[in-house]
Amino acid sequence: MANDLQNKSQLTVLAIESSCDETACAIVRDGVVLGESISTQIPIHRLYGGVVPEIASRNHALNVNWVVGEALSQSGLTIADVDAVAVTYGAGLIGALLVGVSYAKGLAYAHRKPLVAVNHIRGHIAANYLAHPTLRPPYVALIVSGGHTAVAEVTDYTHLSVCGATADDAVGEAFDKVARVLGLPYPGGPEIEKLAREGQAVIPMPHPKMAGKYDFSYSGLKTAVINYVHTKEQRGEPYSKADVAASFQDAAVSVLAQNAVALAQEKGLNTIAVAGGVGANGRLREVLNNYAYPHGIRTLFPPKRFCTDNASMIGMEAIVQIRAGAPFADLSLDAVATIPLRSH
Ligand code: KG4
Ligand code: ZN
Repeated sequence: MANDLQNKSQLTVLAIESSCDETACAIVRDGVVLGESISTQIPIHRLYGGVVPEIASRNHALNVNWVVGEALSQSGLTIADVDAVAVTYGAGLIGALLVGVSYAKGLAYAHRKPLVAVNHIRGHIAANYLAHPTLRPPYVALIVSGGHTAVAEVTDYTHLSVCGATADDAVGEAFDKVARVLGLPYPGGPEIEKLAREGQAVIPMPHPKMAGKYDFSYSGLKTAVINYVHTKEQRGEPYSKADVAASFQDAAVSVLAQNAVALAQEKGLNTIAVAGGVGANGRLREVLNNYAYPHGIRTLFPPKRFCTDNASMIGMEAIVQIRAGAPFADLSLDAVATIPLRSH
Protein backbone atom coordinates (compact mmCIF):
# COMPACT_ATOMS: atom_id res chain seq x y z
CA MET A 1 0.00 0.00 0.00
CA ALA A 2 1.40 3.43 -0.89
CA ASN A 3 2.13 5.94 1.84
CA ASP A 4 0.01 9.14 1.60
CA LEU A 5 1.17 10.57 4.94
CA GLN A 6 4.79 11.27 3.98
CA ASN A 7 4.37 15.04 3.71
CA LYS A 8 1.74 15.58 6.42
CA SER A 9 2.92 18.38 8.71
CA GLN A 10 2.36 16.54 11.97
CA LEU A 11 2.33 12.76 12.35
CA THR A 12 0.78 10.92 15.29
CA VAL A 13 1.31 7.17 15.58
CA LEU A 14 -0.08 4.59 17.97
CA ALA A 15 2.59 1.88 18.37
CA ILE A 16 2.38 -1.60 19.84
CA GLU A 17 5.30 -3.78 20.97
CA SER A 18 4.94 -7.43 22.07
CA SER A 19 8.04 -9.22 20.75
CA CYS A 20 9.24 -10.71 24.03
CA ASP A 21 8.17 -10.16 27.64
CA GLU A 22 6.93 -6.56 27.63
CA THR A 23 3.46 -5.60 26.38
CA ALA A 24 3.71 -1.94 25.45
CA CYS A 25 1.87 0.84 23.68
CA ALA A 26 2.92 4.42 22.98
CA ILE A 27 1.45 7.44 21.25
CA VAL A 28 4.24 9.31 19.48
CA ARG A 29 3.78 12.64 17.69
CA ASP A 30 6.78 13.45 15.49
CA GLY A 31 9.65 13.03 18.00
CA VAL A 32 7.59 13.42 21.16
CA VAL A 33 6.05 10.70 23.34
CA LEU A 34 2.52 11.82 24.29
CA GLY A 35 1.51 8.66 26.14
CA GLU A 36 3.26 5.43 27.04
CA SER A 37 2.24 2.29 28.87
CA ILE A 38 4.18 -0.88 29.52
CA SER A 39 3.15 -4.06 31.25
CA THR A 40 6.20 -6.08 32.16
CA GLN A 41 6.14 -9.84 32.58
CA ILE A 42 9.59 -10.03 34.19
CA PRO A 43 8.30 -11.15 37.63
CA ILE A 44 6.35 -13.97 35.94
CA HIS A 45 9.24 -15.30 33.83
CA ARG A 46 11.71 -14.89 36.70
CA LEU A 47 10.01 -17.88 38.34
CA TYR A 48 11.24 -20.01 35.40
CA GLY A 49 14.70 -18.45 35.01
CA GLY A 50 13.89 -17.08 31.54
CA VAL A 51 11.08 -16.23 29.12
CA VAL A 52 8.54 -19.04 28.61
CA PRO A 53 7.11 -18.30 25.14
CA GLU A 54 3.58 -19.61 25.69
CA ILE A 55 3.20 -17.78 28.99
CA ALA A 56 4.47 -14.61 27.28
CA SER A 57 1.84 -14.92 24.50
CA ARG A 58 -0.98 -15.47 26.98
CA ASN A 59 0.03 -12.44 29.04
CA HIS A 60 0.26 -10.26 25.94
CA ALA A 61 -3.30 -11.33 25.08
CA LEU A 62 -4.41 -10.43 28.60
CA ASN A 63 -2.73 -7.03 28.68
CA VAL A 64 -2.60 -5.57 25.19
CA ASN A 65 -6.00 -3.91 25.27
CA TRP A 66 -5.27 -2.43 28.67
CA VAL A 67 -1.91 -0.87 27.67
CA VAL A 68 -3.43 0.63 24.52
CA GLY A 69 -6.23 2.26 26.55
CA GLU A 70 -3.74 3.53 29.11
CA ALA A 71 -1.37 5.06 26.52
CA LEU A 72 -4.27 6.77 24.75
CA SER A 73 -5.69 8.15 27.96
CA GLN A 74 -2.27 9.50 29.01
CA SER A 75 -1.94 11.26 25.66
CA GLY A 76 -5.37 12.85 25.97
CA LEU A 77 -6.12 11.64 22.43
CA THR A 78 -8.56 9.14 20.99
CA ILE A 79 -7.88 6.64 18.23
CA ALA A 80 -9.56 9.08 15.81
CA ASP A 81 -6.65 11.53 16.37
CA VAL A 82 -4.05 8.97 15.32
CA ASP A 83 -2.66 8.94 11.73
CA ALA A 84 -1.39 5.34 11.71
CA VAL A 85 -1.11 2.17 13.79
CA ALA A 86 2.43 0.74 14.05
CA VAL A 87 3.42 -2.68 15.32
CA THR A 88 6.56 -4.76 15.79
CA TYR A 89 6.27 -7.67 13.32
CA GLY A 90 9.68 -9.24 14.15
CA ALA A 91 12.19 -10.28 15.26
CA GLY A 92 11.03 -12.02 18.40
CA LEU A 93 8.94 -14.87 19.76
CA ILE A 94 6.34 -15.80 17.15
CA GLY A 95 3.42 -16.33 19.52
CA ALA A 96 4.21 -13.10 21.35
CA LEU A 97 4.53 -11.09 18.13
CA LEU A 98 1.28 -12.51 16.75
CA VAL A 99 -0.69 -11.01 19.64
CA GLY A 100 0.53 -7.48 18.85
CA VAL A 101 0.27 -7.95 15.08
CA SER A 102 -3.30 -9.33 15.26
CA TYR A 103 -4.42 -6.62 17.67
CA ALA A 104 -2.85 -3.87 15.54
CA LYS A 105 -4.49 -5.23 12.37
CA GLY A 106 -7.89 -5.31 14.09
CA LEU A 107 -7.44 -1.77 15.38
CA ALA A 108 -6.28 -0.44 12.00
CA TYR A 109 -9.12 -2.16 10.17
CA ALA A 110 -11.84 -1.08 12.59
CA HIS A 111 -10.75 2.57 12.55
CA ARG A 112 -9.59 2.70 8.89
CA LYS A 113 -6.02 3.62 9.80
CA PRO A 114 -2.93 2.66 7.80
CA LEU A 115 -0.71 -0.03 9.31
CA VAL A 116 3.07 0.31 9.67
CA ALA A 117 5.20 -2.84 10.17
CA VAL A 118 8.29 -2.17 12.30
CA ASN A 119 11.47 -4.23 12.62
CA HIS A 120 12.22 -4.39 16.36
CA ILE A 121 15.96 -3.76 16.00
CA ARG A 122 15.34 -0.71 13.80
CA GLY A 123 13.11 0.44 16.64
CA HIS A 124 15.98 0.11 19.10
CA ILE A 125 18.12 2.30 16.81
CA ALA A 126 15.27 4.83 16.45
CA ALA A 127 15.19 5.24 20.26
CA ASN A 128 18.19 7.49 19.64
CA TYR A 129 16.10 9.88 17.49
CA LEU A 130 13.65 10.21 20.38
CA ALA A 131 16.39 10.85 22.91
CA HIS A 132 18.64 12.98 20.70
CA PRO A 133 16.44 14.91 18.23
CA THR A 134 19.46 16.49 16.51
CA LEU A 135 20.91 13.09 15.52
CA ARG A 136 21.18 12.69 11.73
CA PRO A 137 22.72 9.88 9.67
CA PRO A 138 25.42 8.98 8.92
CA TYR A 139 26.63 7.54 12.23
CA VAL A 140 27.74 4.22 13.70
CA ALA A 141 25.11 2.15 15.51
CA LEU A 142 26.27 -0.26 18.19
CA ILE A 143 23.45 -2.80 18.45
CA VAL A 144 23.48 -4.70 21.74
CA SER A 145 20.28 -6.57 22.60
CA GLY A 146 19.26 -9.98 23.87
CA GLY A 147 19.17 -11.39 20.34
CA HIS A 148 21.57 -9.23 18.30
CA THR A 149 25.10 -7.87 18.56
CA ALA A 150 26.40 -5.82 15.66
CA VAL A 151 28.18 -2.67 14.57
CA ALA A 152 26.64 -0.93 11.60
CA GLU A 153 27.03 2.22 9.57
CA VAL A 154 23.65 3.96 9.43
CA THR A 155 23.89 5.60 6.03
CA ASP A 156 20.45 7.23 5.99
CA TYR A 157 17.14 6.93 7.86
CA THR A 158 16.18 3.64 6.21
CA HIS A 159 19.50 2.01 5.34
CA LEU A 160 22.24 0.52 7.37
CA SER A 161 25.29 -1.43 6.43
CA VAL A 162 26.22 -4.13 8.95
CA CYS A 163 30.02 -4.20 9.29
CA GLY A 164 30.39 -6.69 12.13
CA ALA A 165 28.14 -9.09 14.03
CA THR A 166 28.28 -11.92 16.52
CA ALA A 167 29.17 -15.36 15.21
CA ASP A 168 27.24 -17.10 18.00
CA ASP A 169 25.62 -15.73 21.18
CA ALA A 170 24.38 -12.16 21.43
CA VAL A 171 25.93 -10.09 24.21
CA GLY A 172 22.64 -9.85 26.18
CA GLU A 173 22.23 -13.61 25.92
CA ALA A 174 25.76 -14.04 27.32
CA PHE A 175 24.93 -11.74 30.28
CA ASP A 176 21.78 -13.79 30.95
CA LYS A 177 23.57 -17.15 30.74
CA VAL A 178 26.49 -16.08 32.93
CA ALA A 179 24.00 -14.70 35.47
CA ARG A 180 22.28 -18.06 35.59
CA VAL A 181 25.60 -19.83 36.27
CA LEU A 182 26.19 -17.40 39.14
CA GLY A 183 22.72 -18.13 40.56
CA LEU A 184 21.33 -14.67 39.72
CA PRO A 185 17.70 -14.14 38.65
CA TYR A 186 16.38 -13.33 35.16
CA PRO A 187 17.03 -10.96 33.42
CA GLY A 188 20.73 -11.37 34.13
CA GLY A 189 22.18 -8.19 32.61
CA PRO A 190 21.17 -5.74 35.35
CA GLU A 191 22.01 -8.35 38.04
CA ILE A 192 25.55 -8.86 36.69
CA GLU A 193 26.01 -5.10 36.56
CA LYS A 194 24.92 -4.74 40.19
CA LEU A 195 27.13 -7.60 41.45
CA ALA A 196 30.12 -6.42 39.39
CA ARG A 197 30.15 -3.15 41.35
CA GLU A 198 31.26 -5.14 44.41
CA GLY A 199 34.05 -6.94 42.57
CA GLN A 200 37.15 -6.36 40.50
CA ALA A 201 37.97 -7.47 36.97
CA VAL A 202 40.98 -9.54 38.04
CA ILE A 203 40.14 -12.95 36.52
CA PRO A 204 41.68 -13.41 33.04
CA MET A 205 38.98 -13.85 30.38
CA PRO A 206 39.25 -14.67 26.66
CA HIS A 207 38.76 -11.80 24.25
CA PRO A 208 35.33 -12.18 22.57
CA LYS A 209 36.63 -11.21 19.15
CA MET A 210 36.61 -13.03 15.80
CA ALA A 211 38.86 -13.13 12.77
CA GLY A 212 36.52 -10.72 10.90
CA LYS A 213 37.66 -7.16 11.60
CA TYR A 214 34.49 -6.06 13.42
CA ASP A 215 32.96 -9.41 14.38
CA PHE A 216 32.25 -10.76 17.87
CA SER A 217 32.02 -14.16 19.50
CA TYR A 218 30.54 -14.55 22.97
CA SER A 219 30.35 -18.32 23.31
CA GLY A 220 34.05 -18.69 24.25
CA LEU A 221 33.74 -16.04 26.95
CA LYS A 222 30.58 -17.66 28.31
CA THR A 223 32.24 -21.11 28.37
CA ALA A 224 35.31 -19.69 30.12
CA VAL A 225 33.09 -18.35 32.92
CA ILE A 226 31.21 -21.66 33.21
CA ASN A 227 34.50 -23.61 33.35
CA TYR A 228 35.97 -21.26 35.96
CA VAL A 229 32.93 -21.57 38.23
CA HIS A 230 32.61 -25.35 37.82
CA THR A 231 36.33 -25.96 38.47
CA LYS A 232 36.24 -23.84 41.63
CA GLU A 233 33.12 -25.63 42.87
CA GLN A 234 34.45 -29.12 42.06
CA ARG A 235 37.67 -28.39 43.96
CA GLY A 236 35.75 -26.82 46.81
CA GLU A 237 37.84 -23.64 46.41
CA PRO A 238 36.36 -20.29 47.43
CA TYR A 239 35.90 -17.68 44.69
CA SER A 240 34.34 -14.27 44.38
CA LYS A 241 31.14 -14.18 42.29
CA ALA A 242 31.49 -10.41 42.20
CA ASP A 243 34.97 -10.72 40.64
CA VAL A 244 33.60 -13.19 38.07
CA ALA A 245 30.79 -10.74 37.21
CA ALA A 246 33.20 -7.80 36.93
CA SER A 247 35.72 -9.76 34.85
CA PHE A 248 33.06 -11.09 32.48
CA GLN A 249 31.41 -7.68 32.14
CA ASP A 250 34.67 -5.89 31.34
CA ALA A 251 35.60 -8.45 28.68
CA ALA A 252 32.08 -8.34 27.21
CA VAL A 253 31.84 -4.56 26.91
CA SER A 254 35.45 -3.77 25.93
CA VAL A 255 35.21 -5.53 22.59
CA LEU A 256 31.96 -3.69 21.82
CA ALA A 257 33.65 -0.38 22.48
CA GLN A 258 36.78 -1.27 20.50
CA ASN A 259 34.87 -2.44 17.43
CA ALA A 260 32.47 0.51 17.41
CA VAL A 261 35.28 3.07 17.75
CA ALA A 262 37.43 1.33 15.11
CA LEU A 263 34.50 1.36 12.68
CA ALA A 264 33.75 5.04 13.34
CA GLN A 265 37.40 5.88 12.71
CA GLU A 266 37.56 3.86 9.50
CA LYS A 267 34.38 5.49 8.16
CA GLY A 268 35.34 8.96 9.35
CA LEU A 269 32.18 9.24 11.47
CA ASN A 270 32.15 11.14 14.75
CA THR A 271 29.02 9.68 16.41
CA ILE A 272 28.29 6.26 17.90
CA ALA A 273 24.65 5.66 18.91
CA VAL A 274 23.96 2.67 21.14
CA ALA A 275 20.81 0.57 20.64
CA GLY A 276 19.29 -2.26 22.72
CA GLY A 277 18.95 -3.51 26.28
CA VAL A 278 22.68 -3.88 27.05
CA GLY A 279 22.95 -0.15 26.29
CA ALA A 280 21.53 0.35 29.79
CA ASN A 281 24.79 -1.04 31.22
CA GLY A 282 26.75 1.64 33.06
CA ARG A 283 30.12 -0.06 32.51
CA LEU A 284 29.51 -0.19 28.73
CA ARG A 285 28.76 3.53 28.83
CA GLU A 286 31.98 4.22 30.77
CA VAL A 287 34.25 2.03 28.64
CA LEU A 288 32.79 3.26 25.32
CA ASN A 289 33.28 6.85 26.41
CA ASN A 290 36.88 6.08 27.43
CA TYR A 291 37.63 4.63 23.99
CA ALA A 292 35.69 7.19 21.96
CA TYR A 293 36.49 10.59 23.51
CA PRO A 294 40.27 10.60 22.81
CA HIS A 295 39.39 10.16 19.12
CA GLY A 296 36.90 13.06 19.11
CA ILE A 297 33.96 10.65 18.76
CA ARG A 298 30.76 11.41 20.68
CA THR A 299 28.63 8.63 22.14
CA LEU A 300 24.84 8.67 22.38
CA PHE A 301 22.81 6.45 24.69
CA PRO A 302 19.04 6.53 24.97
CA PRO A 303 17.77 6.81 28.57
CA LYS A 304 17.53 3.35 30.16
CA ARG A 305 13.76 3.06 29.68
CA PHE A 306 14.29 3.50 25.91
CA CYS A 307 17.19 0.98 25.82
CA THR A 308 15.10 -1.99 26.93
CA ASP A 309 11.94 -2.98 25.05
CA ASN A 310 9.30 -0.23 24.76
CA ALA A 311 6.72 0.98 22.26
CA SER A 312 7.92 4.60 21.97
CA MET A 313 10.90 3.48 19.89
CA ILE A 314 8.53 1.52 17.63
CA GLY A 315 6.40 4.65 17.13
CA MET A 316 9.51 6.72 16.36
CA GLU A 317 10.74 4.19 13.80
CA ALA A 318 7.28 4.16 12.18
CA ILE A 319 7.44 7.95 11.81
CA VAL A 320 10.94 7.70 10.32
CA GLN A 321 9.64 5.14 7.79
CA ILE A 322 6.56 7.19 6.86
CA ARG A 323 8.69 10.31 6.37
CA ALA A 324 11.03 8.31 4.13
CA GLY A 325 8.07 7.26 1.95
CA ALA A 326 8.07 3.56 2.88
CA PRO A 327 4.85 1.76 1.86
CA PHE A 328 2.25 0.80 4.48
CA ALA A 329 1.66 -2.82 5.41
CA ASP A 330 -1.64 -4.49 4.60
CA LEU A 331 -3.88 -6.83 6.57
CA SER A 332 -1.92 -9.88 5.43
CA LEU A 333 0.98 -8.78 7.67
CA ASP A 334 2.53 -11.80 9.41
CA ALA A 335 4.93 -12.11 12.37
CA VAL A 336 8.54 -13.07 11.61
CA ALA A 337 10.87 -14.72 14.15
CA THR A 338 14.19 -13.63 12.62
CA ILE A 339 14.86 -10.72 10.30
CA PRO A 340 18.28 -10.08 8.79
CA LEU A 341 19.46 -6.70 10.10
CA ARG A 342 19.74 -5.38 6.56
CA SER A 343 15.96 -5.71 5.97
CA HIS A 344 13.31 -3.17 6.94
O1 KG4 B 1 16.93 -5.01 23.75
P1 KG4 B 1 16.34 -5.87 24.81
O2 KG4 B 1 15.48 -5.26 25.85
O3 KG4 B 1 15.52 -7.04 24.16
C1 KG4 B 1 15.85 -7.63 22.95
O4 KG4 B 1 15.47 -7.05 21.91
O5 KG4 B 1 16.56 -8.65 22.98
O6 KG4 B 1 17.57 -6.59 25.49
C2 KG4 B 1 17.42 -7.47 26.53
C3 KG4 B 1 18.80 -7.83 27.02
C4 KG4 B 1 18.77 -8.93 28.08
O7 KG4 B 1 19.72 -9.90 27.71
C5 KG4 B 1 19.17 -8.20 29.34
O8 KG4 B 1 19.86 -9.02 30.27
C6 KG4 B 1 20.07 -7.11 28.79
O9 KG4 B 1 19.42 -6.69 27.63
N1 KG4 B 1 20.21 -5.99 29.73
C7 KG4 B 1 21.40 -5.64 30.28
C8 KG4 B 1 21.12 -4.57 31.17
N2 KG4 B 1 19.78 -4.29 31.11
C9 KG4 B 1 19.24 -5.18 30.21
N3 KG4 B 1 22.63 -6.14 30.11
C10 KG4 B 1 23.62 -5.58 30.82
N4 KG4 B 1 23.44 -4.59 31.71
C11 KG4 B 1 22.22 -4.04 31.90
N5 KG4 B 1 22.05 -3.04 32.78
ZN1 ZN C 1 14.54 -5.44 22.22
